[in-house]
Amino acid sequence: MSDFVDAFWSHFVTVVALGGILACALLLWLTARFRGPSSADNTTGHVWDEDLREMNNPMPRWWMGLFVLTIVFGIGYLVAFPGLGSYRGTLAWSTQGEYEKAVEKANAELAPVYAAYTAQPVEKLATDVSAMAVGERLFLNNCAQCHGSDARGSKGFPNLTDGDWLHGGTPEKIHETIALGRIGAMPPMAEAVGSAEDVKNLANYVLSLSDSPHDSVRAGLGKSKFTTCAACHGIGGVGNPAVGAPNLADKIWLHGYGQEAIIAMINGGKTNQMPAQQGRLTEAQIHVLTAYVWGLSNNKTATAAGQ
Ligand code: HEC
Ligand code: HEC
Repeated sequence: MSDFVDAFWSHFVTVVALGGILACALLLWLTARFRGPSSADNTTGHVWDEDLREMNNPMPRWWMGLFVLTIVFGIGYLVAFPGLGSYRGTLAWSTQGEYEKAVEKANAELAPVYAAYTAQPVEKLATDVSAMAVGERLFLNNCAQCHGSDARGSKGFPNLTDGDWLHGGTPEKIHETIALGRIGAMPPMAEAVGSAEDVKNLANYVLSLSDSPHDSVRAGLGKSKFTTCAACHGIGGVGNPAVGAPNLADKIWLHGYGQEAIIAMINGGKTNQMPAQQGRLTEAQIHVLTAYVWGLSNNKTATAAGQ
């Protein structure tokens, strides 16, 4: 209730809530005070079905008492809990607070389990079936939306099971990737390469690196242009994990396969981001995820658990 974008709604809710209670109290007071016209025999004068008459008795005391109690409770509730617009209530209760408490409690309960996991190196943890079951759940909840539930990725989102790494596949590098995130940035290169023909020739040379179908005449013409690319992609296009430049000499393509996809990369470049998980996940969770991801391409037990 504290996130209204406009103070108007806060006031609106406050007026409606307090106005409702006030109206109830007023109704109670008025009905108790004014008994309405009544005749000598204490009836209102209304008659139905020939002889059914309405008595003009006061409301029962117990009923009035309950009504008053309800009003008092309503006011007490609105003082203690958030109910009046942006007012937080004296108890400072909030659903966000409840959620945080629940997370804290769960983390405290899980701490001994995770302590046993963090004590183990990644390579060993990746063979621990129960740890990998935890890893799989963490992955499904936090990573699968981008990398796929089978971790095989899709266009723009790397496959984490194939042993081909943009930023390095050692436990240390994987941990660093997950904790701190990564930005893979390739600038538009068309200007450095030359004309559209030069770009096409170079694209064919890139295809030739992985022995993919290509025009060998064009590849021969494009070869010399690759020096500008080698600064990042390495000589022979084998990739460079230090700058996240992919290996262009294998048949694994992050941004699409074929002449058109490569021309689009050279002309447009690409900035791709893996979001940092530090702060979102605990250090222990990142450790388990590191083992899970490392295990996907390095360890049979983990792969079996992951699929
Ligand atoms: C919002 C999408 C998104 C989410 C969520 C995400 N990733 Fe990524 N991840 C990416 C992208 C995009 C890249 C590629 C970055 C690049 O191109 O340099 C990447 C790269 C990686 C890499 C490096 C791969 C390599 O080849 O070096 C690892 C490891 C990784 N992610 C693991 C994870 C884990 C574990 C999680 C869950 C905690 C996760 N990612 C969540 C988008 C995401
Ligand atoms: C400044 C460093 C840098 C330079 C220079 C550079 N690249 Fe890249 N390139 C990258 C990075 C980083 C990526 C990965 C982007 C990502 O993380 O998604 C990439 C991706 C690519 C891809 C996509 C690979 C795939 O798997 O889909 C191709 C193709 C490519 N580059 C070709 C080239 C060519 C050809 C040149 C030379 C004209 C070149 N690059 C120059 C850094 C560079």
